[in-house]
Amino acid sequence: MDKFIVYNSKLKGDVTISGAKNAALPILSATLLTDKLCVLKNVPDLLDIRTMLKILQTLGKEISFKQGTVVIKSTGKREKYTAPYSLVRTMRASFCCLGPLLAKNRKAKVALPGGCVIGPRPVDLHIKGLMKLGADIKINKGYCIASAKRLKGAHIYLGGQFGSSVLATANVMMAAVLSKGITIIEHAACEPEIIALGIALKKMGANIEGEGTPIITINGVDCLNGLDETVIPDRIEAATFLAAALVTRSDITIKKVNFKHLTAVLEAMENMGAVFNIKEDSIGIKSPKVITPVSVTTLPYPGFPTDVQAQLMSCLCFAKGISMITEKIYPDRFMHIAELNRMGAGIQRSGPYAIIEGRRRLFGAEVMASDLRASAALVIAGLAAEDKTEILRVYHIDRGYEYIETKLRHLGAKVKRVKQK
Ligand code: EPZ
Repeated sequence: MDKFIVYNSKLKGDVTISGAKNAALPILSATLLTDKLCVLKNVPDLLDIRTMLKILQTLGKEISFKQGTVVIKSTGKREKYTAPYSLVRTMRASFCCLGPLLAKNRKAKVALPGGCVIGPRPVDLHIKGLMKLGADIKINKGYCIASAKRLKGAHIYLGGQFGSSVLATANVMMAAVLSKGITIIEHAACEPEIIALGIALKKMGANIEGEGTPIITINGVDCLNGLDETVIPDRIEAATFLAAALVTRSDITIKKVNFKHLTAVLEAMENMGAVFNIKEDSIGIKSPKVITPVSVTTLPYPGFPTDVQAQLMSCLCFAKGISMITEKIYPDRFMHIAELNRMGAGIQRSGPYAIIEGRRRLFGAEVMASDLRASAALVIAGLAAEDKTEILRVYHIDRGYEYIETKLRHLGAKVKRVKQK
């Protein structure tokens, strides 16, 4: 497993943001809804994307992926409908193949995704939504087996104990577009990635209104066309690079980004002292010499994103005072705390609350990456810590950040990857 070696760095210049992993994954699943040619551009070359492409191949698609463009054809072979555990367990977003597979083939067998270090990751809302559309669903030997003669539109309340669910909304949307009649999804997720899925489905001929709001109305159609779509910029990668600039007191510009997707993040960082120069598709950050402590709560979009919580915590380790982070989406998403404390941070956790006592300095150490965003948080802390930080198991970071060490080095960061046997 590879590791990163990171030294205290100053950043300058600009960095181009890649296409959004969390937008590309559901849209790739949506290609299961049609036998026509689908082309998706600006797709980031990531482990999770390659896993999804393998699943689509297993399900009978012919795939090519070159220079960020994915071309998907149907092989015309008898439709396959099983997404195997061997692939689903490595990338839980594969579960959003269930809805389109069921809607197109009338049956689907998808392995239940396991939990992961950020939490149990249940799929009860996915299953509830599909059953409301008339699916017969059985759980057998770790697989979710769904069947339906013809799905029928329904009025579905999709809110859970943590609010809306992004991929449950996506799964139900994709099933509903080929269901007979009207579907209303209440308490739908409003993330930009859901808007992107809605736009892609409409380009394929679906009849959808309200994507991006808590109420989505879908009028089912009999079949869908192909797709030619470009993936939106990755707002989480953008926020990660802004955090790297903030923590190293650097001024950089991030390009090919949609600032409208980052309101809560920009607000929090402004409160920490950052000054932004916002243009149509770029954001310049001027970082403060002293980071002001803040209190942030993660919430469903447009609230502060849980996927930026760890990265912001790394910045707050250097704030002049005491900050608080409340994690309302995944209350256990704090694996990075122990590693940051090993670098000399002063963080205390109690349930979903983390109290961060800012330190003047952190010290490089050998630390362990545990999940995608925690890995990014450790890189960010390493860029501002004294001496050398070694981050083990960086395959986590490869799941969600395209060429991250190359992009950081382009900004002047002292970071290198060491291949491990
Ligand atoms: C998506 O996961 C993202 N992944 C996650 O990003 C992100 O953290 C999450 O949304 C929240 O924004 C992709 O888009 C591929 P949820 P998803 O369903 O859809 C609970 C990353 O780092 N819940 O919105 O799986 C759940 O436990 C990843 O890129 C249920 O209770 O998340 C959580 O507490 C990590 N029942 C909350 O809802 C369900 O059936 C929100 O989860 C489904 C979810």
